[in-house]
Amino acid sequence: MTEIKIAPSMLCADFRRLKEDVADLTAAGVDWLHFDCMDGHFVGNLTYGPLVLEALREGCELFFDAHLMIAEPARHIRAFADAGADGICIHRETVDGPAAVLARIRGMGCQAGLAFNPATPLDGLEAAIEECDYVLLMSVEPGYAGQEFIPAVLGRIERVRKLIDQAGLEILIQVDGGIDAETAPQVIAAGADVLVSGSFFFNHPDGYAGAVKVLRRN
Ligand code: DX5
Ligand code: ZN
Repeated sequence: MTEIKIAPSMLCADFRRLKEDVADLTAAGVDWLHFDCMDGHFVGNLTYGPLVLEALREGCELFFDAHLMIAEPARHIRAFADAGADGICIHRETVDGPAAVLARIRGMGCQAGLAFNPATPLDGLEAAIEECDYVLLMSVEPGYAGQEFIPAVLGRIERVRKLIDQAGLEILIQVDGGIDAETAPQVIAAGADVLVSGSFFFNHPDGYAGAVKVLRRN
């Protein structure tokens, strides 16, 4: 089994001191930085784009994961790749043929991710799986941090795990939304590899290192 990767959601970071926050997260031993990029169209909320990743990239060795909650993501992947994203994740709901867009992401030297909202059928995954480096299963509706975990994702994780293993591929499963001390062991048991955590992580009483410790334990 792959080692669990911890990916704090930068939606919940302190925007007044982002650079310092990134240094603190690095010191706490996180694996990925998860950037929630929202366009106010595919989701109601509006956050940030490639310029923020670029500003934080210098001097930071962590894996930069751009979770694109934006319509027509193909128009923006080049900008995220140039900004220094290591992984670019597009939503299944925003593209008709994900395989081609995922292949373009890989062609830019980035890992390619495909995300599914909680209610989106997983049918499209099989046709695109060869082009995926990671699959993101949303465990809340995208758009906002602090929502309650949707337990139905557990069965979906198991299903995707089986599909990946049967295909003999090395693809990570990432879970995003409502991950805390209680839900982390559940998603790990179902087959998750990468845990995104916002509210729980950034509000942990024992700080970032304390949150990492709790989430890694399973
Ligand atoms: C929601 C985002 C998540 C979210 C996670 O659209 O994709 O990354 O910020 O935050 P919590 O852990 O609070 O659900
Ligand atoms: Zn996210």
